[in-house]
Amino acid sequence: MITLGIESSCDETSVAVIVDNELKANLISSQDFHKNFGGVIPELSSRAHLQIIVPLYKNALNLAGIEQSQIDVVGATAGPGLIGSLLVGLNFAKGLSFSMKKPFIPVNHLEGHIFSGFLMEEKPEFPYLCVVVSGGHSLLLSVKSFTEIRMLGTTVDDAAGEAFDKVAKLLGFGYPGGPLIQKAAENGDETKIDFPVAQCKNEFDFSFSGLKTSVLRYVQKNYGDPRSIPENERNDIAASFQRAVANALTSKAKKVLRRQRFKAMSVVGGVAANTYIRKSFEEIAAKENLKLVVPKLEFCGDNGAMIAFRAKTLYEAGRKFSLDYQAFPSMKKLNFDFMKK
Ligand code: KG4
Ligand code: ZN
Repeated sequence: MITLGIESSCDETSVAVIVDNELKANLISSQDFHKNFGGVIPELSSRAHLQIIVPLYKNALNLAGIEQSQIDVVGATAGPGLIGSLLVGLNFAKGLSFSMKKPFIPVNHLEGHIFSGFLMEEKPEFPYLCVVVSGGHSLLLSVKSFTEIRMLGTTVDDAAGEAFDKVAKLLGFGYPGGPLIQKAAENGDETKIDFPVAQCKNEFDFSFSGLKTSVLRYVQKNYGDPRSIPENERNDIAASFQRAVANALTSKAKKVLRRQRFKAMSVVGGVAANTYIRKSFEEIAAKENLKLVVPKLEFCGDNGAMIAFRAKTLYEAGRKFSLDYQAFPSMKKLNFDFMKK
């Protein structure tokens, strides 16, 4: 069976091909120009997706060594994401599906991330504790099967990646913030500043807005203008902030692990690319004697492979979708079929 996966929810266009169980192509085109504006400009993002999607699709088929007519299932991200960007990939997929009379599977982007560990050689085992840390979401989930996900905790304000991006901006690092903070933190002292970890009403929820404000207050109080922070002190702030984010994530995961039994743990999404956060989770997994699956970098950020994989599991679970299925920019409206509170 050949599954196509298309991703265009934000600033990556990606097309992937899975032949039976083997990933044959996962082409990702990143819109680097947004860094000139300090963040993603939705209209420019949609235009860039439109320009690249056809050549990227043709290249992916070439790389996988298949013809269009061989595709059995067409999957694409339906949300959450930027509406204009989503529409490019989703409507491209609908057009293919309609013209080839092959099933169309709209994929929830977060479900793509949740199962992205299955793209690795060492796969998660059910039930596993999944920590989703992306630009738009921070989630703690109990994943029992491909069709049963229980939400334990969610984002109450800024997501983890959003906090990285906003703190990077206020420290003058630019966009995207995550990798730049990580780089600066490598030369900083993480114990220099004790930034607080917020407590939430639901103990498994995540809040990073207070942490961002603490960094802002620290900078205002000690330097006034962020431009006057000496480089070594900027590195210390980055390292201390990164440690606070890692602590917030691992402390909640540890709490869940004390109460529930899991066969594995998986940390996924763009922020899971962070070396310090990966190491922090490796330490917990070793202590708890728990299998840990953190996808390689190619599968942490947005990619078509995770969308193709999720489309395949939905198809195999017998799910059918009509071409009327809409794109949904927000998670609240999105048909999160298998997720229960
Ligand atoms: O999953 P993703 O690619 O897109 C969404 O679904 O949102 O996540 C993007 C986020 C951005 O906020 C980016 O700053 C963050 O992931 N990120 C990182 C790192 N690489 C990307 N955050 C921390 N450390 C990194 N190395
Ligand atoms: Zn994502």
